[in-house]
Amino acid sequence: MNILAIETSCDETAICYLSVSESNTGTTFTVQENITHTQLEHIAYGGVFPTIAKREHMINLPIILEKIMHGREIPDYICVTNGPGLEPALWCGITFAQELSKKWSDSRRIPVIPVNHMEGHILSILVPENKTEFTIPTELFPLPALALLISGGHTELVLVKNIGEYSIIGKTRDDAVGEAFDKVARILGLPYPGGPEIAKLASQHNTTKQKTITLPRPMMHSQDYDFSFSGLKTAVLYTIRDIQAVHNGMVPEHLAQEIAHEFQESASEVITKKTCNALQDFSAQTLIVGGGVSANNCIKESLQTKAEAIIAPENIYFPSRELTGDNALMIAIAGYYKYKKNPDVVYDDIRALGNLEL
Ligand code: KG4
Ligand code: ZN
Repeated sequence: MNILAIETSCDETAICYLSVSESNTGTTFTVQENITHTQLEHIAYGGVFPTIAKREHMINLPIILEKIMHGREIPDYICVTNGPGLEPALWCGITFAQELSKKWSDSRRIPVIPVNHMEGHILSILVPENKTEFTIPTELFPLPALALLISGGHTELVLVKNIGEYSIIGKTRDDAVGEAFDKVARILGLPYPGGPEIAKLASQHNTTKQKTITLPRPMMHSQDYDFSFSGLKTAVLYTIRDIQAVHNGMVPEHLAQEIAHEFQESASEVITKKTCNALQDFSAQTLIVGGGVSANNCIKESLQTKAEAIIAPENIYFPSRELTGDNALMIAIAGYYKYKKNPDVVYDDIRALGNLEL
């Protein structure tokens, strides 16, 4: 069986062609092609512009498809992200998928399966590092699992009762953590996307020196699983203003490094605390971390160390580095499990749902 998957929820235009074969021991996936094009046009604006994202998706989808389909069979079905994400961007993928389905449905119907972007991030952990062929056992991971989804648009704790059965137990009340990284980077004059830039600057901080900057740990001790990062970003802004007032409008490099380090520590501590509380309170057997911010080493190490005291280390999953950000392989995998669960469902009214929940 062959699957074509399309992802256009934000600023990545991505298509994957995945072959799947089932056996008694599990499901073998072969990644025939997996192309992700990151739109660099947004860098100059310091954030993602929906109209530019749409224009670039429309230009790039046919180009990528041609590379992917070169000499390949028409797939058995098409998976496409229908949300959450930027609606104009999502529509590009959906209409493209529907047009392909129309064009390819000749003697047999080639269905289009809508896929939730966040479910894609959750299931991206099934793909091993640097493998184009891998077998996933029938029992995917011990349940219930807790998924921490941290990206530019989302910060959520999701209880996974089963594949396709999710409940959001906590989320950000304002900015997503990736958004906070991006905004703090912008305040510090660093380019978009800010996450990797902040991480780099933070790593240059000399931790043996006396601490001079302390930022808040928002909602660290609240009795729920929610987050808030907008106040932390504002605290960075005020700290920088205070520094500039005594340094002739400048921020000395060592203080910029300390701010980046302290900001990253704050985000990391809050995320780790809330995640560990949820692991314990819901007796989760597995921890899954997904989304672009899961590439952050400080957050990764903190989560790994603290979660190991609660659940078995082999049940803590991070996506492989190339799958931390948005990609179409995760959409193909999530689409495969969705289709397998209900193969007879016909999705004939697929809409872009910007705020779609799991
Ligand atoms: O999942 P993703 O690729 O796109 C969505 O937002 O859905 O996540 C992108 C976000 C951006 O905010 C980016 O700054 C952040 O992930 N990010 C990081 C790192 N790498 C990417 N944040 C912190 N540390 C990183 N190393
Ligand atoms: Zn994402």
